[in-house]
Amino acid sequence: MELILGTAKASDIETGAFAVICFKDEKPGDELAGGIVKELDDSGEFTGKALETALIHHPAGMKATRLLLVGGGEKAKFTPAEMRKAGGVIVRTLKPKGIADVAIRLKGITLDPAMLEALVEGIILGDFEPDLHKTADKPSDKKIEHFRISVPEETAPLIDALHRGRVIGEAQNFARTLVNEPANLLTPLKLAACAKDMAAEFGLGCELLDEGRMRQLGFGALLGVSMGSAEPPVMIVLKYTPAAPPATTDHLAIIGKGVTFDTGGVSIKPSEGMEKMKYDMGGAAAVIGAMRAIAQLKPAIPVTMYAPCVENMVGHKAQRPGDIVTTYQGKTIEVLNTDAEGRLILADALTYAARQGCTHLVNAATLTGAIAVALGHLYSGVFSNNDELQERVLAASKAVGERMWPFPMDDDYKDYVKSSFADMGNIGGRWGGSITAAKILQEFVEGKPWVHLDIAGVAWLDESKPFLAKGPTGTPVRTFVHIATNWA
Ligand code: BES
Ligand code: ZN
Ligand code: ZN
Repeated sequence: MELILGTAKASDIETGAFAVICFKDEKPGDELAGGIVKELDDSGEFTGKALETALIHHPAGMKATRLLLVGGGEKAKFTPAEMRKAGGVIVRTLKPKGIADVAIRLKGITLDPAMLEALVEGIILGDFEPDLHKTADKPSDKKIEHFRISVPEETAPLIDALHRGRVIGEAQNFARTLVNEPANLLTPLKLAACAKDMAAEFGLGCELLDEGRMRQLGFGALLGVSMGSAEPPVMIVLKYTPAAPPATTDHLAIIGKGVTFDTGGVSIKPSEGMEKMKYDMGGAAAVIGAMRAIAQLKPAIPVTMYAPCVENMVGHKAQRPGDIVTTYQGKTIEVLNTDAEGRLILADALTYAARQGCTHLVNAATLTGAIAVALGHLYSGVFSNNDELQERVLAASKAVGERMWPFPMDDDYKDYVKSSFADMGNIGGRWGGSITAAKILQEFVEGKPWVHLDIAGVAWLDESKPFLAKGPTGTPVRTFVHIATNWA
C-alpha cells in the first residue's frame, strides 16, 4: 500500500472512498455531501460512536465515488489510540469491498505528529491478514493500492511521523507474521533464520548460539526444556549499534520468550486450545519485530536483543517433573512442572544479557495463563525490580497505546517457590501465579534494572475487532521501539 501525504480539499479529491472521522459531539454540517451526516444522525443510523461506520455512494458535491463516515466517539477523548483504531476501521471496512483507492482528510482534529503516526500505524495494522497459508478466498487478495492523507496545512512537519508510523506498523506486522506461522513450519532454527535474514536486510549484527555453544556456556535450564524435542534450540542475538558514540553508558537489552510450541512437556496441557500454543514465541517475535524498527529509526543508545528459542515437547528424552537443572548463573531449579518452561529458558537468557554488559533489561513473555485471569485480554502485566525503569516502560506503553499494569513484587513472594531439594522450584502454589513466575525471573537478572512484561493475555486475539484481524497482535513491539527511541 502506498501512503501519500497531501493538502487537497475534500471536494477535490478523486478517489474510490473518502473517509471522514465524525464525533458524537461534533459533526460536519451542510458543507459535507449536502448535509447527509445530519440526516443519518437524526435517523439514528450513524451517531458518531467510536468504530461505527456508514458508507454513502455518490455523495453530493464531491468527486469521490463514496463517502465513508467513521465514528470517533467524543471529541475530547479522541487520543492517538482512538485514531489508530479509526485507521484500522477504514481499511477493514473498505478493503473487503475491493476499493483500491482511499483518501482521508484530517480537518478539525488537532493534527500533531503523534496523531498522524497513530493513523498510519492503524492503517498498516488493519491491513494485516493471517491468511498466508490459505490457497483460496484470501482476504489479502483484495488490496488498497493508494491511501491518501490530506491535511489542511503544510505536510513537511508530518513527513517524519508518516515514516515512523510506517516503520513501526510494518515491524509489528512482521512480528505478527512470525507468530502466525505454525510450529511445524517455524521451528527454533527457522525462527533464527528469519531473524538473521531480517538483520542482514536492515543492517543489524546477528549471532546465533547453537546447542553446543549453550552447553559450553552451561545453559542447563534452557537445555533441559529443549531435551524432549527433536528440534535443536538456539539463542538469537541481534545487535543495534548507533553510528555516533552514545552520550551515556546505558545499554538496553530486550529479551523475548521463544517457545515455538508449548505442549507442556510431560506435564502435558489439555488438548483443547493447544493449537494456540504456537504463539508461545510471541515475546521473541515482538523483540525481533522491534529490532526491525529500531534498525530503521536509529535511536541514540545501543540495543541488543536476546531470544531464547526452544520447542517444549514430550519425547523419550524429555525432562521429567522432579528433575533438577543448573542454570547458567549457577543456581539450581527443581522442575516441578515441565509446563512452567518459559521462566527456565528466560533464566539463562536474562543472566546472559546481564553478563554481556547490558545495563537495563526488558523482557516480554507469554509466561502465565494467570495473567489473563488477573487482567483479561486488555493489559499486559508489568513486573520490575526498579521503579525508574518501570516508569519508563509504563510511560512508553501509554504513549503507544499498549495497555500495561504493574504488579507487586514483594520479596515475601519468594517463599512461594521454595524447593526442598534445589535452590528453588519452578512453580509456586495456586495463588499469584504471574507474580511467582516473575520472582523466579528476578533471581537471574544479576541485580540489573529489569522489567518483565507478561503478554500471555494480549499477544493473541481470539475474535477479530473492527480494526484488527483475529490472531497475533504483535504486542508489545511499539512499546519496545518507544523505549529505545525515547531513551535520552
Ligand atoms: N505458555 C504458557 C502460558 C500461557 C498460557 C500462554 C495460556 C498463553 C496462554 C506457559 O508456559 C505455561 O504453561 N504456564 C503455566 C504455568 C503453571 C504450570 C505454573 C500456566 O500458566 O498454566
Ligand atoms: Zn508452558
Ligand atoms: Zn509456555
